[in-house]
Amino acid sequence: MIIQPRTRGFICLTAHPEGALQTVKNQIEYIKSKGKIANGPKKVLVIGASTGFGIASRIAAAFGSDAATIGVFFEKPSSEGKLGTAGWYNSAAFEQEAHKAGLYAKSINGDAFSDEIKQQTIDLIQKDLGQVDLVVYSLASPRRTHPKTGVAHASVLKPIGAPFTNKTVDFHTGAVTDITIAPVENDDDISNTVAVMGGEDWKFWMEDLKNAGVLADGVKTVAYSYIGPELTFPIYRNGTIGQAKNDLEESVKHINEMLKDLNGKAYVSVNKALVTQSSSAIPVVPLYISLLFKAMKEKGTHEGTIEQMQRLFAERLYTEDENVPLDENGRIRIDDWEMAEDVQAEVAKNWDKVTTENLSEISDIEGYRRDFFNLFGFEIDGVDYEKDTNEDVKVPSIA
Ligand code: NAD
Ligand code: NA
Repeated sequence: MIIQPRTRGFICLTAHPEGALQTVKNQIEYIKSKGKIANGPKKVLVIGASTGFGIASRIAAAFGSDAATIGVFFEKPSSEGKLGTAGWYNSAAFEQEAHKAGLYAKSINGDAFSDEIKQQTIDLIQKDLGQVDLVVYSLASPRRTHPKTGVAHASVLKPIGAPFTNKTVDFHTGAVTDITIAPVENDDDISNTVAVMGGEDWKFWMEDLKNAGVLADGVKTVAYSYIGPELTFPIYRNGTIGQAKNDLEESVKHINEMLKDLNGKAYVSVNKALVTQSSSAIPVVPLYISLLFKAMKEKGTHEGTIEQMQRLFAERLYTEDENVPLDENGRIRIDDWEMAEDVQAEVAKNWDKVTTENLSEISDIEGYRRDFFNLFGFEIDGVDYEKDTNEDVKVPSIA
């Protein structure tokens, strides 16, 4: 069929398999161009492996240090006449390319929050790999059914304490408007968001993996966080999602304690703001990202998910001297270039000025928009979108 983008707000309802394949190939080429990662991981589990930072982590591990990878994700498969999701097509492309390169790659499609999927993953590790030496935790989800209580938690993106009014952009139309977001009405909004995006599920994963004996001596695990500038604090770091990130960062201590006898280490990496399916859902943030990209591209420090993950692996987690650089709170920082003073000063200056009229001049709204469509395999150089495309693409290990 001919596949075109179809959007509803900040979601895209369609995805293009050949665009996804080309995107994955481009990311692989980038990783290869940077050379092998010394002391890199060899057997890797990526939870949340199909889009955003997760697929980039999987590609960095596989093509940067020849790692065998197991990817867990929650995607809609394609079938005859019905499109799969972007993450499905990304994973199909990844496995195909990994297998071509002689790399082990298998995937599990299901709810990573459930005990069943954790058990399936453990069974697969035992059968095929024995143990893993890196666990990447890159889930982003609006809901989680708690495996022990059965309660369905829904996360919210709200400020805490007071309403938050600031500028926001509709990146389809380029309209810059003021938005007011009402604060949480009760603590349930906070506890539900922490239940979905906090550290409990990461702890559950690490406990189950450890108890099953599938973590190698010296294992590392990393989960992703975000801080950002003060202008987004009310909606991000000091809002409900920020409470979840505090909880995630706090859980590092517990996991480190648990991994001690394996000489294992848990890390949180604070990543750069990037266009992903998750971040496009947050008000105010896309306008910030558009201004940020403009400033970073001008300074030559702009990165996408794959550049970020290459730097995380090569210059943080697996350095030559095996020393992992951390901030004063024990976190890895690959948001360092985003948070650079000159970049933030430029963004702050333009934040006050930005309007619908000057948006395309002082921000990189066009880059934001393109990145968004790229997530779904659209507007990728070298792909013929007028051509009939086979929508039914298998993830080889799932078939
Ligand atoms: P994303 O939406 O691109 O990826 C989410 C992944 O989680 C996908 O692979 C999806 O299939 C998987 N997933 C969701 N629910 C699942 C479930 N129930 N079971 C199994 N898999 C499930 O998100 P992302 O932006 O790459 O975010 C990954 C992490 O990085 C998050 O912790 C996020 O907060 C963090 N982060 C994001 C940004 C950003 O700007 N995007 C910046 C810093 C940190
Ligand atoms: Na991800």
